[in-house]
Amino acid sequence: MGESIYGLKRTHRCSELGIANVGETVTVMGWAHKRRDLGGVIFVDLRDRSGILQLVFNSQISGSIFDKAEKIRSEYVLAVVGEVVKRSPETVNPKIETGEIEVIAKELRILSESEVLPFQIEEDSDVNETVRLKHRYLDLRRPDMQKNLILRHRVAKIARDYYDENGFLEIETPILMKSTPEGARDYLVPSRVHPGKFFALPQSPQLYKQILMVSGYDRYFQIAKCFRDEDLRADRQPEFTQIDIEMSFVNVEDVLTMNEGFIKKAFKEAMNIELETPFIRMPYQEAMDRFGSDKPDIRFGLELVNLSDLVENCGFKVFADAVKNGGSVRAINAKGCGAKFSRREIDSLVDFVKIYKAKGMAWISVEENELKSAITKFLSEDEIKAILDRTQAEPGDLICFIADKNSIVYDALGQLRLELARRLELLDNNEYKFLWVTEFPLYEYDEEERRWFAKHHPFTSPMDQDIQYLETDPGKVRAKAYDIVLNGVEIGGGSIRIHDQQLQSKMFDMLGFTKEDAQEKFGFLLDAFRFGTPPHGGMAYGLDRLIMLMAGKSSIRDVIAFPKVQNSSCLMSNAPDFVEPKQLKELHIKTEA
Ligand code: AMO
Ligand code: AMP
Repeated sequence: MGESIYGLKRTHRCSELGIANVGETVTVMGWAHKRRDLGGVIFVDLRDRSGILQLVFNSQISGSIFDKAEKIRSEYVLAVVGEVVKRSPETVNPKIETGEIEVIAKELRILSESEVLPFQIEEDSDVNETVRLKHRYLDLRRPDMQKNLILRHRVAKIARDYYDENGFLEIETPILMKSTPEGARDYLVPSRVHPGKFFALPQSPQLYKQILMVSGYDRYFQIAKCFRDEDLRADRQPEFTQIDIEMSFVNVEDVLTMNEGFIKKAFKEAMNIELETPFIRMPYQEAMDRFGSDKPDIRFGLELVNLSDLVENCGFKVFADAVKNGGSVRAINAKGCGAKFSRREIDSLVDFVKIYKAKGMAWISVEENELKSAITKFLSEDEIKAILDRTQAEPGDLICFIADKNSIVYDALGQLRLELARRLELLDNNEYKFLWVTEFPLYEYDEEERRWFAKHHPFTSPMDQDIQYLETDPGKVRAKAYDIVLNGVEIGGGSIRIHDQQLQSKMFDMLGFTKEDAQEKFGFLLDAFRFGTPPHGGMAYGLDRLIMLMAGKSSIRDVIAFPKVQNSSCLMSNAPDFVEPKQLKELHIKTEA
């Protein structure tokens, strides 16, 4: 393997050695993970990206190199020639792959020394993330980080293989471009040559991939870096990676089938997990009604129940008014929680839903012979019975109610459902529940700006049967748009695009774009569409989020080699940073900072 180093050539990575190599003389190189000095014998765990191997320096056998071995400290880089021997049964270490053998060192070179580390290199480190990210070069040595990045590599490779096998071409699109209408804030790059003008970094390759369809490439994919200047969260980074796909002459079902095939292959080949396809297809409205979310976690039940019709004329004003004002009253039957939760725990649920703008949370605790509740006194016996029937209440259950306008009811109960699952420990990280959420609304109404926005992007096609409502009842129009959801996380999304120019003009009208606006923003795409546009559609997977879930992590920072932190800076390199005045001058920029 490779050039020789000080006359030595590596023969194996650490964990490539096993019982089969006993008796062989091998050369291994790596980092001194741990060193134990037992007087006449020194044990060193040698680590490389494959794993750990025990080296033995024996003062009798190893002679002069024993003195050198005494100098070894944590994270020194070593080259060792030695003989593979079988460990005696009582010293076998079943925790490591190479636990049945060790290497008796015959030659030792210290290739590089290390200063004392700011933290230990170990799996599942509980070191503060700020420290880890500042010293990311060390953090990346940790076996779990290495596992995550190796998994990421595998999945990217499987994506390339899968899409290639299915006739997709990987085509690069520009990083310096005109801004795309993806909805987030752009990162801008000033032009030196064109004073006052800026490039935008792509929020996604959306416009280019559609143009590639117009240009006849038929099936495109790209593992594409995307940039969005948004507020960060655990599953959002300002630069992230998409597996981006576009296909010609397809309908929704074609896109879903093709792209769930990739997930199936990735789970099989990277994790040896057999997934059942096709995944569930669930219309958006059903997802909202049952789970209060357009990215439902379907690993557990606790579904929402609509009680509006039962309480619209009841004596509890909060309920009756919510329905009369066009909202709804819905509930979750928190199975067993009436018996399990103390009054204080129930009160903390009430505080929890208030985070999501609910004004309160009424509840009924169902006991063997009575109901505990502050609201039953306002309800008739029939109403109570109907509520208990519909929520399938049994003794021990806790029925939690929210009454409000629909958006708040969905959000508060959707979040309450997740909170209950956390408290009841219903979430299993080794379970992978996928679904496609389909038939998203085409438009979203912005109360502040008092106008309609495209929920996905302005090139998304309405469903054929809803085109009739485009102008008369825009809120009713569903789109040929879909998201793929895994365990409550949106890992991808896309749509069938509009390829009909008249329909596109109507869309722009609805969104309040004048002809000039549209031409100015996406003129090149509209121009391209004039010369023979195939029906087309596609999607993009968020690679970081997919890997995060496959690796069982809760932040995408754990699957990105060099991520940014909350305030969009890099703690290791200190980017962003000030630049020389000369650079600014060349770019025709004056700053106020
Ligand atoms: P969308 O904006 O839904 O669609 O993005 C697709 C997927 O990318 C991931 N994602 C992110 N991951 C990490 N950090 C972020 N800031 C971030 N933003 C998005 C999500 C999301 O589902 N061009 C369209 C796709 C199409 O229509 O074909 C697009 O970009 O997992
Ligand atoms: P109140 O009459 O305001 O004291 O409320 C009685 C019960 O109804 C309390 O348990 C409140 O938490 C609950 N409640 C108040 N507003 C709402 C609401 N919008 N939806 C559900 N429950 C509510």
